[in-house]
Parts: sequence; structure tokens; C-alpha cells
Amino acid sequence: MSESVLITGGAGFIGSALSRRLAEAGYDVAVMDILHPQVHAENTTIDLPPSVRLYTGDVTHAPDCDAVLRLFKPSQIVHLAAETGTAQSLTEATRHGSVNVVGTTQLLDALSRCGHVPDQVVLASSRAVYGEGAWRAGDEVFYPHPRSHAQLVAGRWDPQGPSGEAAVPLASSAMRTEPRPTNIYAATKLAQEHILAGWTAAHDTRLSVLRLQNVYGPGQSLTNSYTGIVALFARLSRQKQALEVYEDGQILRDFVYIDDVVEALYAAVSGPAEPSRYVDIGSGVPTTIHQLAQQLATSCGAPDPVVVGKFRDGDVRAARCDIEPAVEDLNWRPAWSLEKGTQALLDWIEN
Ligand SMILES: NC(=O)c1ccc[n+]([C@@H]2O[C@H](COP(=O)([O-])OP(=O)(O)OC[C@H]3O[C@@H](n4cnc5c(N)ncnc54)[C@H](O)[C@@H]3O)[C@@H](O)[C@H]2O)c1
Repeated sequence: MSESVLITGGAGFIGSALSRRLAEAGYDVAVMDILHPQVHAENTTIDLPPSVRLYTGDVTHAPDCDAVLRLFKPSQIVHLAAETGTAQSLTEATRHGSVNVVGTTQLLDALSRCGHVPDQVVLASSRAVYGEGAWRAGDEVFYPHPRSHAQLVAGRWDPQGPSGEAAVPLASSAMRTEPRPTNIYAATKLAQEHILAGWTAAHDTRLSVLRLQNVYGPGQSLTNSYTGIVALFARLSRQKQALEVYEDGQILRDFVYIDDVVEALYAAVSGPAEPSRYVDIGSGVPTTIHQLAQQLATSCGAPDPVVVGKFRDGDVRAARCDIEPAVEDLNWRPAWSLEKGTQALLDWIEN
């Protein structure tokens, strides 16, 4: 009998790509997804292979979780169902808390009610759990406070060292960087990690936590205005609009292509059993928002991006990660450059 995998949120951007990968590899795959209208605009098709069962259901709703587990007792669960709007989470905290935190506990309670313990739970967590992450000033490593509104109004974009000196961001690593969420979305993702760690330990089963950097690529919702700067910039560049770049353009991110993320999740599902793992998944290459904007503008023949000095409260200044532990642990390596990946995204939007 083939191994079975339940993917919550499996009709979304990452989930549908992972469903295809697992189905192609011979896994028996089921998806539980509420098909949220913010992600799935009206009249868009759900792109899942015919062999994948789609159970339309809400992870926050106990009877829905019970119904799915009555029909499908998976050997592994990949938990992706989530509200993912970072800025939106500041004004819709309860919605994020409900889906991300209560949705996780409801799923676990449903497993307990039906007496089923999967061999592994895989969680797509987020680089957001690190908040501003660790920075270095001289020889000192420190964790900056979230940037205040007043600091951003004054255009002091970079966090400063403890004595006000210049500082540089360090690559986050699950092995050494303390999570310090600075927004509600991030706090709920860290809560998911803690909840699943407690449950899996108590049930002697495995947990893989993959902290994903900014994922982009074909299949990303182009209508959800709350997520996905690469998709947004790609769309505007194709319309020949000049992109507005916030702060001084030097906000740093790691943009990782969807196929690389799917391969990492696939490796966690299919690889040798580890008791538990926490790894960072990115391209390993930090990119400024200005570089991203310039690349898309050049590809589309759009005007050069404009640095506008605007900002968003709650944005972190720098996000980059050390992927080497994941490379070793998962026997995986990202294969897509930003240039190749953004071109693939543009081609997908075109067609
Ligand atoms: N895309 C990224 O850059 C990124 C980065 C870090 C972490 N992640 C994490 O990866 C996971 C998947 O993200 P994505 O980019 O595919 O997002 P997505 O929004 O495309 O997919 C999420 C899916 O969850 C479903 N969903 C929402 N609420 C639900 C509920 N109550 N019950 C059942 N299903 C529900 C939605 O309908 C959607 O299909 C999320 O947990 C997210 O936090 C994503």
C-alpha cells in the first residue's frame, strides 16, 4: 500500500504544487482546504491532479476535521492551512489566531478523538518567527527591538547597535537564532511550532518544521493583495508601471522559488526518519527589494523603479537564512536563481 499524506491548505500556492509532486511520486494524497476566497478568486480552477482527493473543510471546525479523518487516515500530515497576511494580521488578529492556532489544535484534537497518530507531521513555518533576527555591531551579536514608528518616520531604516553604532544583519538559523516574532502572523506561526512540538513528543511521533523564506513562482495568487511582493511587482512590471520601492530600497529578503520549496517539503516527507528537525528553507542568496524591482523592470521593459521612502509598520528590515543545515539534513539544494525564477513567473502570468 502506498504511503498516504494529508495536506491541509493543499489547494493553495505551495500545497497544490506539493500535491502534484507527491502524487507523481506515487503517494496517496488528500487535501483539506476551505478554498478561501481571498486566495481563490471566483471562477479560478483548483489545480490538483485527478488522483488527489479534495475535502472542502475548515481546520477550525471540529466536525470538518473529524469528517476528513473518518475518510482518510494519513501516514503523514503536511500542515499548510493558514492565514498568511502579515500586515493584515495586525488588524485581523483574531482571524489569524483562529485559523493558525486554533486550526492546528482542532486538527490535533480530531486525531486524538479518532485515535490516529501519523508517522510524521510536517509544518510549513515561516522566517517571520525570527522577527528582526540577530544583528552584529562590532563583535557584539544582539537582537534589535522592532523598529518604532518614530524611527521609520525619521528614515532610520537600519536597527542600530546597543550604543547607537552601525550594525549588520546575520543569516538566521534555526540552530542558533532565537525566534522573536514582531507581528501577529509570526506569533501564530511560532505558536503552531510549539503546539505541534508538544503533541508530537507526547505521541512519540516525528515533527519536521521548515521555516520558509519568501516563496514565489507560478501558481501564486495574483489576486490576493495581502501576500507576495514578487507576484505584485511582476504584475505591475508587465503593465509597464514604475515600481515603488519602500524605505531606501535596501530591505533585504531571500526569495525562494516554489519548486525549490516543494523539493524541500518532499524531502522531509520522503527522506529518512529523523525524530524532529527545524530547518531554514530559502535560496541562500539575500536580495534587496530594489534589486528585485530592477530585475523585473528590466525583464519587462518597464521604467526603472523609484525609491519612495514610504514604509510599513511591522516590516522587518532584513530576512536571510543559513540553508546549509537543510542542505545536509534533507539532502536538498535550491536549484533556481532569482533571474530564472522570475522569468518563469512572468511566463506563467503571460499564459
Ligand atoms: N508563501 C510564502 O512565502 C510562505 C512563506 C513562509 C511560510 N509559508 C507558509 O506556508 C503555508 C502555505 O502558504 P501558501 O503561500 O501556499 O498560502 P496560500 O494562501 O496560497 O494557501 C493557504 C491555503 O490554506 C487554505 N485555508 C485558509 N484557511 C483555511 C481553513 N480555515 N481551513 C482549511 N484551509 C484553509 C486556503 O484556502 C489556501 O488554499 C502557510 O502555512 C504559510 O504560513 C508561506
